[in-house]
Amino acid sequence: MKIATIVGARPQFIKAASLSRTLRQKHDEILVHTGQHYDDNMSDVFFAELDIPKPEYNLNIGSKSHARQTAAMMIGIEDILLTENPDAVILYGDTNSTLAGAVVAGKLIIPIAHIEAGVRCFVRDMPEEQNRILTDHLAKWNFVPSDSAVENLRTEGITENVYNVGDIMYDGLLYYSKKTEECSSEYFYSRLNYLIRSTTITSEKYYLATIHRPENTDNIGTLTSIIKGLNNLEYPVLFPVHPRIKKAIKEITTDGLFDNIHFVDPLGYMDMIFFSKNAVKIITDSGGLHKEAFWLKVPSVVILRNTAWEETLKGNCNVLASPDEKDIVNKVNNTIIDYSFYDNKYYGDGNTGRKIVELLV
Ligand code: UD1
Repeated sequence: MKIATIVGARPQFIKAASLSRTLRQKHDEILVHTGQHYDDNMSDVFFAELDIPKPEYNLNIGSKSHARQTAAMMIGIEDILLTENPDAVILYGDTNSTLAGAVVAGKLIIPIAHIEAGVRCFVRDMPEEQNRILTDHLAKWNFVPSDSAVENLRTEGITENVYNVGDIMYDGLLYYSKKTEECSSEYFYSRLNYLIRSTTITSEKYYLATIHRPENTDNIGTLTSIIKGLNNLEYPVLFPVHPRIKKAIKEITTDGLFDNIHFVDPLGYMDMIFFSKNAVKIITDSGGLHKEAFWLKVPSVVILRNTAWEETLKGNCNVLASPDEKDIVNKVNNTIIDYSFYDNKYYGDGNTGRKIVELLV
């Protein structure tokens, strides 16, 4: 098989790493990077540490409005698909890079394999929800991560070529988590102390926080309320800052009153696994991170209106919170968790990559 894989944003590099490892054993893969994420610590670091092959094409599209970004990607992807004429296109998740690939491959009648299909948070105004729905409906094969995703597709009339193969991110987490165990804790803490030039976060207790969704970050009042909540928590907070909120964080923290929070640049995947695993709790609006928190059995507070990963809410393993200072502190401090729910394998057994390649063949 000759497969074109289209990626562009940080979580897609992690997903592609797991599948490419199996795919490239026997098949040809053309890796296309749209350039949606382009900073070293949002892109290059993942290619280097996850051993992802260098992309055959990088469109270098960068940041733009949704329409301009998606349209620019579409033009570039069309040229590549016409040149390469692959047997199929692989798309991951729900970003603008996913949507651009879907619309182009769909019109060129190149079969689409959509991985992480069928998940829904039922919030139609989120760009990711729109991207998911459109891609699922254009795909020839929908590889879904859970029973609930099968059901979501069925409700929308998609029942053919739907394969519940588990979650490709779980493959990656198991594989790279093992690799982090080959390094000592001192290694990670010394890297962190270098990054934040402080020794306050040691192997003692800390929380890990990440926030990047427009609904939480584009209004300075909302973001300030979230930051205040984090600052009022019992333990120090390690906060890797997504580039989209760098400027706003500087503005909010000019008076220097946020000394419970340690802001650092975005971390690589191995660092994220290590610091997630060892956190007391995780506070995040990232879809991927709160799912990883569940697998790592670290309770998390999810600052979203709803999650596409509803299974992780069972037993309060994850709880939703509004972007509000008091609600965040309350949910972090007062949630009672039923740890028995962590034993459920809602998202497969970690062999998703192998199953997808077998089915595609
Ligand atoms: C995108 C995805 C989101 C995913 C996230 C993972 C869409 C609609 N959203 O959101 O689903 O959870 O990636 O991180 O595709 N920026 C930089 N450098 C970079 C990348 C981004 O400075 O390398 C800044 C730019 O100011 C840009 C902003 O971040 O405008 C947002 O980037 P964008 O790719 O549009 O969306 P994300 O918020 O990263």
